[in-house]
Amino acid sequence: MAERAAIVTGASSGIGLAIAQMLGEQGYGLTVAARRPEKLEAAAKTLTDQGFDVLSIPADLGEEEAIAGVVKSHEERFGRLDVLVNNAGVGFGELADNFTTKKIDLQLNLNLRAIFLFYRECMPMLRKSAEEHKGTLVVNTASISGIRGEGLLGIYSATKAGVNGFTQAMNKELGPAGIRNTALCPGFVDTPMTDPFAEYVSKDTMMRPEDISAAVRFLLEVSPACMVPEIRFEQPGGISIPGIN
Ligand SMILES: NC(=O)c1ccc[n+]([C@@H]2O[C@H](COP(=O)([O-])OP(=O)(O)OC[C@H]3O[C@@H](n4cnc5c(N)ncnc54)[C@H](OP(=O)(O)O)[C@@H]3O)[C@@H](O)[C@H]2O)c1
Repeated sequence: MAERAAIVTGASSGIGLAIAQMLGEQGYGLTVAARRPEKLEAAAKTLTDQGFDVLSIPADLGEEEAIAGVVKSHEERFGRLDVLVNNAGVGFGELADNFTTKKIDLQLNLNLRAIFLFYRECMPMLRKSAEEHKGTLVVNTASISGIRGEGLLGIYSATKAGVNGFTQAMNKELGPAGIRNTALCPGFVDTPMTDPFAEYVSKDTMMRPEDISAAVRFLLEVSPACMVPEIRFEQPGGISIPGIN
């Protein structure tokens, strides 16, 4: 049994898979969760093939019961939680004139509400881990859109600003107990999520998912006396898309 264990949501591709890969290399037992079963299974296989201890759970994390189920299954398998990575997210481009209620709800439920519920469900394990070694970490994937809102991405930007605010609040509330919380705020990263932007921004110029996982590795390396509330990742020179940023 691994001495440390982590949950990574949205781990079937992109940033989440890169973070899961890094945590596996660091010896963490891994619960990986994402929406589409076949895609998640393929990702989990790349992790288990490297000898990592992996539990994969396909789940729609917009659903409260699914979140409780992921955390329960993780606890049954690993018995502890040292790192929680709230990374699953979706973004839909819509003008304010045409906001659709379904897409508003999808973004609120996954990008924001799911994070609140993961915290609640994980608190007993996180507190226990912090009592044991004070190296406990929660990483919430926000976005540069949550720092400076982007046109066409109003709802997405609002959810990610919410992730930043919530992460700050959690540091106030849980920091004294030894649970540190970091919001990751990337600009464009080369993942399936940014495929629709490829005609405006060359994929070659985007950051790599491994740039983000390297930052999480850094968070694991700093001492318990060092709390990093937020990390911004930006392209040199910036990227400008008319109407968006
Ligand atoms: N790429 C960027 O430029 C960028 C920049 C800033 C922030 N972010 C944030 O980074 C995070 C990861 O995105 P990514 O860029 O790595 O994109 P990605 O490769 O598309 O990954 C998104 C992950 O979330 C999962 N997911 C989506 N809906 C879900 C649901 N309802 N329930 C459970 N899992 C669900 C996906 O699984 P399925 O594929 O099966 O749906 C996938 O594993 C997101 O929070 C995103 O907002 C990305």
